[in-house]
Amino acid sequence: MFENNYHHCDISNKTFLVTGGAGFIGSNLVEYLLKYKAGKVKVFDNLSNGYYKNVEPFISNPAFEFINGDLLDEKSCVKACEKVDIVFHQAALGSVPRSIEFPLATNAANITGFLNMLVAAKDSGVQRFIYASSSSVYGDSHLMPKKEDIIGNALSPYAVTKRVNELYANVFGDVYGIKTIGLRYFNIFGPRQNPKNPYAAVIPLFIYALLDGKSPAINGDGTQTRDFTFVENAVQANIRAAFTEHPDAFNKVYNVAVGGRISLNDLYKDLQEISGIKIPAQYVDPRSGDIRDSHADISQAKTFLGYDPKFKVKEGLQILFKWYKENRSFLEKE
Ligand SMILES: NC(=O)c1ccc[n+]([C@@H]2O[C@H](COP(=O)([O-])OP(=O)(O)OC[C@H]3O[C@@H](n4cnc5c(N)ncnc54)[C@H](O)[C@@H]3O)[C@@H](O)[C@H]2O)c1
Repeated sequence: MFENNYHHCDISNKTFLVTGGAGFIGSNLVEYLLKYKAGKVKVFDNLSNGYYKNVEPFISNPAFEFINGDLLDEKSCVKACEKVDIVFHQAALGSVPRSIEFPLATNAANITGFLNMLVAAKDSGVQRFIYASSSSVYGDSHLMPKKEDIIGNALSPYAVTKRVNELYANVFGDVYGIKTIGLRYFNIFGPRQNPKNPYAAVIPLFIYALLDGKSPAINGDGTQTRDFTFVENAVQANIRAAFTEHPDAFNKVYNVAVGGRISLNDLYKDLQEISGIKIPAQYVDPRSGDIRDSHADISQAKTFLGYDPKFKVKEGLQILFKWYKENRSFLEKE
């Protein structure tokens, strides 16, 4: 992966902190930074939802450091931010259903933990704080495509936490002058996304069902749509945010997506075609807290960050299907 270089400057003199770097998106970001010879890449993760094996291939790289730490431990956050130029804050408890089941744990990691890391970054003089928000903040808004400044009411505790992150980041920008950029990810998929997790996302679940010869479950009637986004596009957005020179780019949030939408039925059809395996899906009850449709307007990220997603959904699905086939045993070790 990462044949495209998205930063166009020397990063060998920079120190990066990737929180949640043992997770899905974070470990892809780490892979990119190390591939392009970042000076130092620290990962901060408590392995609650991530996997040491996601960072194991980087351990022998002298530019890499793994910190087994928790966002709820203020002192660890401060230590992790020491001498860091850019923070990519990915650590959080993701998943709408998990947040409905465990609102307190989600609130703790995603709001208190976020604030601990933001304060630590500010106090350490970090140059930029780039953080993961989510399309879930659009809630019950029916506007399509989704534009950053028009959101609806939150539909889940998870969505509340991501919205609070945005409010804190913007206030910290105004009050303390720290440069923040929030990235509203729209259904990211790609290598190292865990299909075995009880709160696994739909694409890894579909692929694993096909590879196991089982019928996947589709919530609702499958006509709901999503702006599914290959993980390399999300990595690109982070890198662009870290290095944008646009003076008005900061203390804002940006949609990170492809700028299209596909229904779950069509997505599953594409996966059957790519895999050459045909198994009818089973339809089950819709999930509470889910938004009905999502389709991003990505013009803000294009203008202010220079974001230009290279991978359409189908290309990403092809890369991912091949990856899961080749790495099944790797994933099943856990
Ligand atoms: N994957 C998506 O489609 C998607 C969509 C919207 C937003 N996001 C956000 O993007 C970020 C990364 O998501 P992901 O899919 O890679 O999830 P992930 O669960 O694979 O990665 C998150 C990582 O954070 C770590 N973590 C959780 N709580 C922690 C704590 N208290 N202290 C330290 N580490 C902790 C986990 O162990 C995990 O490795 C998250 O903030 C998530 O909410 C993801």
